[in-house]
Amino acid sequence: MQTTPAILIVDDNAANRRLYQASLNDMGAEIYSAASGEEALARCGERHYAMILLDVHLSGMSGFDVAQTIRDKHVGMDAPIVFVSAMYVHESDTYRGYRLGAVDYILSPVVPEILRAKAAVFIRLHRMRMEAQQQAQVVEKAYRELRTVHSEMEGFSYSVSHDLRTPLGQVAGFADLLQLGHAGELSTKAREYVGHIQTAAQRMNSLIEDMLLLANMTRAEMQVQPVDLSHMANVLLEELAAAKPLAHAESHVQAGLHAQGDARLLRVALSNLLSNAWKYSAGVPRPQVEFGQVERPEGAVFYVRDNGAGFDARAAGERLFRPFQRFHPDSAFKGNGVGLAIVERVLEKHGGRIWVESAPGQGACFFFTLGQVSSLATAIV
Ligand SMILES: Nc1ncnc2c1ncn2[C@@H]1O[C@H](COP(=O)(O)OP(=O)(O)O)[C@@H](O)[C@H]1O
Ligand SMILES: [Mg+2]
Repeated sequence: MQTTPAILIVDDNAANRRLYQASLNDMGAEIYSAASGEEALARCGERHYAMILLDVHLSGMSGFDVAQTIRDKHVGMDAPIVFVSAMYVHESDTYRGYRLGAVDYILSPVVPEILRAKAAVFIRLHRMRMEAQQQAQVVEKAYRELRTVHSEMEGFSYSVSHDLRTPLGQVAGFADLLQLGHAGELSTKAREYVGHIQTAAQRMNSLIEDMLLLANMTRAEMQVQPVDLSHMANVLLEELAAAKPLAHAESHVQAGLHAQGDARLLRVALSNLLSNAWKYSAGVPRPQVEFGQVERPEGAVFYVRDNGAGFDARAAGERLFRPFQRFHPDSAFKGNGVGLAIVERVLEKHGGRIWVESAPGQGACFFFTLGQVSSLATAIV
């Protein structure tokens, strides 16, 4: 669409054309005119118009036929047509005109002030459309740039994480060699230092693994299938109990929870939520971890609840799901702060969302939906 609005005047009477042209001259629009229907059609192929002023009673092709052909031939040409009629137009013709996209009728002899008032409206409309289109283009361009930057960043963090693995593996490997093969030659202090190197290397390794997982999350192809979430949660909790036994811990999984989704990704998400629940309830006398589902007006909502340390969810706000954000000191609970960012990506990919209710010392309850795909859960249960 051109920047300057244009008006097309179609009339076989030269004096009329001159009159309309003179009336509309100083309105900031370019004025084009055509003396016949054929010429009008040719002009319509050249550009878009903010308004077409069309004489109904053209000799040769009638105004209605011209309007019909404009709409048929120039798909997308939705310029408002204002018919000019020297006499009373029969009612059925009026409807015909409106069906052809006529916006208005003006009786001739045309009163210049009325013509100008109508033209002003269409010129303003045209400008507004132009602005809206330009804004849409700006937004689209920004979106494209953002996507490029985003995928570059993903590629960057992927390759960095990947490349860090090799030297890190060497650090850990040599520390192990020192510890295993040369322990006798080392002082107690030196052995302790080697132990610190090994622990730090392990932590860095798990951080790299999580960063790779996060970077891979967005590009991962989804393989949607029915997933038995209850079974998945039970297996994960058994693994947690075996790996990090908690005295007097109780876990409860609601039976029969299913969903449509990518099993591998959902396992990653559920594993992060359950291991958080497990980890952050380690300090209470009777840790309780629960996975279940509640019905809400918007559909099935899953939850992972614990009665552990909790945190100030209100203060954490949006930051909770950003990478590397932690709300407990490392001295109290170890972690790298990437888990919930991964969980959010997984749920986002499923068209779902996640939110939390928690307060310090009150445990935490993470709620999540799986978008459209979760509706199947209730169907199967
Ligand atoms: N169940 C929970 N109870 C208490 N705090 C939690 C819980 N889950 C997450 N958090 C808080 O959110 C932060 C981010 O979680 P996460 O991304 O999994 O990182 P990490 O567990 O490695 O610290 C945690 O550091 C913790 O402060
Ligand atoms: Mg975690």
